[in-house]
Amino acid sequence: MENINKVQKDWWKESAIGIPKLITDIPGPESKRMHANTARYMKGLSSQVKLFPVCFEEGSGITLTDVDGNKYLDFSSGIYVTSLGHCHPKISEAVSHWAKKLMNAHDFTTPVKEKLMEKMAGILPGKLNAIQLYSDGTASVEAALRAARAITNKHEFISAYRDFHGKTLGAVSCAQMFRGETYSYGPTRAAGFYMVPRPDPYRPLWTKGDGSIDTDAYIRFYEDFLKEGTVGNVAAFVLEPVQGWAGSIFPPDDFFPKLKALCDKYKILLYDDEVLAGMGRTGEWLTLNHWGVIPDIVTFGKSFGNGFPVTAMVVSEENGDALEKISASSSYGGNPMACAAALASLEVIEEEGILQNVRSVGGFFMKRMLRMKEQHPIIGDVKGKGFLLGIELVKDKKTKEPFDEAGKIVYQKAFRKGLAWIPAGHILRMSPPLIMDEKYASMGMDIIEEAIAEVEREFGYK
Ligand SMILES: Cc1ncc(COP(=O)(O)O)c(C=O)c1O
Repeated sequence: MENINKVQKDWWKESAIGIPKLITDIPGPESKRMHANTARYMKGLSSQVKLFPVCFEEGSGITLTDVDGNKYLDFSSGIYVTSLGHCHPKISEAVSHWAKKLMNAHDFTTPVKEKLMEKMAGILPGKLNAIQLYSDGTASVEAALRAARAITNKHEFISAYRDFHGKTLGAVSCAQMFRGETYSYGPTRAAGFYMVPRPDPYRPLWTKGDGSIDTDAYIRFYEDFLKEGTVGNVAAFVLEPVQGWAGSIFPPDDFFPKLKALCDKYKILLYDDEVLAGMGRTGEWLTLNHWGVIPDIVTFGKSFGNGFPVTAMVVSEENGDALEKISASSSYGGNPMACAAALASLEVIEEEGILQNVRSVGGFFMKRMLRMKEQHPIIGDVKGKGFLLGIELVKDKKTKEPFDEAGKIVYQKAFRKGLAWIPAGHILRMSPPLIMDEKYASMGMDIIEEAIAEVEREFGYK
C-alpha cells in the first residue's frame, strides 16, 4: 500500500464526513413528488426503484445525495458502474476536456484512443489485444457473439443457467429472461443457443462423497451435452466469471481451468463476459485472473468508464482478423470522451493502488460476512471476492429455501437507514465503490446487519 498517491487516494473523504445524514423521512417529500411526476411518463422501472423510489441529485466519492438533502453511503456504485467513486476528479476532468474539444469522430483514431489502446494492451493478459469499443455492455456482447462465429466458422453457443448478458436478441439468447418480473414474449432464445447448469457451491447439483461440489461431474455433463445436445458446431461457451446479477455466485476454483481444458479439446472458444465483474471489482483486472485462465474473448463495461458509457470487446491477437469480418464499428464506440473516461479510469486504478485496496478491504468484508453468517439464522451463505459480495437469505439453513420476502424488507430497511444499494430477491448484493476503506465498509455492514436482525425479529426467528 506504500506506493499509493495519498492526495489522490483521499479525494473522496471530505464529502463522506458525517454520512449517512438523514434530514427527512425517506423517500422525502421532494423525492416523492418528483418520482410520481416522472413515473407518469417513464415506464419499465427496475424493482429497486419501485421498492424505494428516491431521487438522487448529486454523487461524490462514496456518497449520494437525494433531492431532499439526505446523504447516503453508497454500496452500489450506480449499478456496478461508478466503481472509482462518483465524479472522480481525474475522470470528470478527462471527459470534460474532450467534451469541449472533440465529441465524435466516428472510428477515426484520436490521440486519446491511441493512448487507451496502448494502455489496454499493456494491462490485459496473454495476447488479448485485438480491441473494439462500444457504448453499452450489451453491444459488446453482441459483437463478441459475432466475433466468435467469425473466428470459428461455427454457430452454436452454450451459456449457463442464471447468467445474464444483456437485453438484445443475441444476449437474451444466452440467458433465461422470463423469470420474476422479466417476461419474454414468443420464442425466448434464438436457434443454436443452449443453456447448461453451472456449479454453485451452495446449491450443488452434483457432489462428491464428502458432500463438496463435484466440478468434474459438470464438465462430464458438458462433454456429453456437446455430443448429444448440439450439432457439433459450438463456437463458444459464453459465461460470466462470477454470476453478478444472480447474486454474486462464484464457481469453485477448479471450474474455469477445467472448462478451458474442455474448450481447448473441442476447439471451442471461452468467452468471458466481464462487463460486471471486470476491471478491478474482484481485485484483479479480470476475474478469470484469479484462476489463471486466459479467455479467448472478453468483454468489459460498467466500471470501465466509471460512469461514462464505454465498453470493450477484446479477442486475442491471432483472432484479430475476425473483427474485420463483422463490421465491428459503431456510431458512439470509442468517441474521444469515452476513450478519455476509460483511460483515466485505468490510470486511477494503477495510481491509487485500487487492486490492493480491493484485496485488503475485500478480506475484511468476507471476515465480517462469515461472522454474520454464524450469528444469523436467516443467512444461509455469504459469497464474494474483493468488492463483489452477496448474502443469501434462507428460511431455514437446512432446507435452504430462498427467503425472498426478507430480501425485499432488508433492502428497504437498510435504505431507510441511509444505505444506497442493489439487492435482488433473496440474495443481498453489494458492490461498493472500490475506493472505500474499512471504516465505511464496516459502517455499511453494520446497517445491513441491523436490518437483518430487525427482519429476523419481525419473522419470529429471535
Ligand atoms: C455480465 C453482463 N453482461 C452484459 C450486461 C449488459 O450491459 P449493459 O446494461 O451495459 O447493456 C450486463 C448488465 O448488467 C452484465 O451484468
